[in-house]
Amino acid sequence: MQIQIDEARLIGELKTLAGFTNVEPSTEGTAVTRVVFTEDDLRARAWLKQRAADAGFAIREDAVGNSFFRWTGLEPQLPAVGTGSHIDAIPHAGMYDGTVGVLGGLEAMRALKESGFQPRRSIELLLFTSEEPTRFGIGCLGSRLLSGTLAPEHADALTDSNDETLAHVRAAAGFSGTLATVPLPANFYHAWVELHIEQGPLLEREGLPLGIVTSIAAPAGYRFTITGFGGHAGALLMPDRKDALCAAAEMILSIERHALAANAAAGSIDTVATVGTCDVHPGAVNSVPSRVVLQLDIRDTDPNRRESVMQAVRRDYEELRQRRGVTIIEELVNADAPAQSSAQIINVLERACAEHGITPKKMVSRAYHDSLFMARVAPIAMLFIPCRNGVSHRPDEFSTDADIVRGTGVLAAALAHLASE
Ligand code: GLV
Ligand code: MN
Ligand code: MN
Repeated sequence: MQIQIDEARLIGELKTLAGFTNVEPSTEGTAVTRVVFTEDDLRARAWLKQRAADAGFAIREDAVGNSFFRWTGLEPQLPAVGTGSHIDAIPHAGMYDGTVGVLGGLEAMRALKESGFQPRRSIELLLFTSEEPTRFGIGCLGSRLLSGTLAPEHADALTDSNDETLAHVRAAAGFSGTLATVPLPANFYHAWVELHIEQGPLLEREGLPLGIVTSIAAPAGYRFTITGFGGHAGALLMPDRKDALCAAAEMILSIERHALAANAAAGSIDTVATVGTCDVHPGAVNSVPSRVVLQLDIRDTDPNRRESVMQAVRRDYEELRQRRGVTIIEELVNADAPAQSSAQIINVLERACAEHGITPKKMVSRAYHDSLFMARVAPIAMLFIPCRNGVSHRPDEFSTDADIVRGTGVLAAALAHLASE
C-alpha cells in the first residue's frame, strides 16, 4: 500500500490554522494566541470540522467541546484507534504546538483513505479542549475529563480571570449538557498515538528525524497567595514594611535553588520548576505591594523527587513567613503521575519507522500532553518531530515541512497497522 501524504494540503492547512488568532505581527516568527473558547478558538474549530466533514469523517462533540472525527472501520464494534492533539495556544506562542498532531492526524487519515486502505477498526481523530492551562489554570482539561481524572463538578466550578465559570463559558460556546457524560467508556480505544513537536533540542542535536516517547514526566501546579501590608511608597517607612512582592521574590529564588539542588544531588536534569505568573496587587509604581499571587509549574520524571523539592521549599516558606510577617496560602492545582508508553505501540511505531528507513530516538517527554491522561484509559505512545533550537511556546517555534510530512507519514503507517490488529 502506497500512502501519499499531501504536503501542500497539510502545510497549507497549518498556515491557515495559524491565521485564527488575534493579529500579532512578530519579527521572530508566526505569533499565535488561541485561548480556549475565545472567538479565534471557535472559528478554528468550525474550520476544522468542515475539513473533517469534507473528508467524510463522522463528527461528535462532547459537553466540554472535545471533538471526535471518526472514520468507521469494517468492524465498527471493535475499540477504535485514536490520534490527535490540541489547537489552543498560550499567549504569544508559535504555530506548531498541538496543531501538528491535529492536522497531521487528519492528513494521515485522509491519505490512508485516498490510498484505498480499509481499516478493520475505526480510526478517530480527537481534538482536545484546553490542553493549555491559560484560561482555567489547569492543563489538559479535556483529557482529564475523558479519563475520569477530574470530577465534573470540580471542572465546572473552575474560573477564568473574569471569574466566569467553565460551566458558563462552555455553555456560551455552545457546549452544554452535563460533564458527567464526558468520561470515555472502558476499552474505548484499542490504541492511542499522538504526533507532536519535540519542544526540546535533542532530536535536532542528534540529527534524528523522529522520536518515540517512552514516558511523559509528571507535572504539578501550585498557586501561592502572599499577603503582606501595603501603603504609600514614599511614606511607609522601610522598617514598618511587609512587602508581599519582596517575599514572593525570595520564594521564587527558593524554588529555583531547590530544583537545581535536586538535579545536582541526582546527577540528572529531570527536575524543572518555573514561576510563570506573578500578579501584584495593587500594581502601582508608588504603592507597596500588599498581595501577590504566584503560579508554580514543577515537573519531574520522578514524582517523589518533585514532592521532596516541594517539602524543602515549604520549609523555606515557613521561615520566610516568620521573618517577613507575611501570610502564605498554598493551593494545589494539580499533582499528576507520570505516564508510560505501551511496549506494543512502541513496537508498532518502530516498525513504521523502519518501513520509512528511519532510525528513531527513544525519549522522555518533558512537556505534558493529553496523552498523559489518555494513558490512564488506553495504551499510548507518542511520535516527536524535531523543532528548531528546541524552541516552543514562542513565535519562533519552527519545524520543517519535511519533518512534519515525515512524521505524518509514519503516523499514517502506524495507524494502519494498529487499525488492522
Ligand atoms: C504543555 O503545553 C506543557 O506546558 O507541557
Ligand atoms: Mn503547549
Ligand atoms: Mn502541546
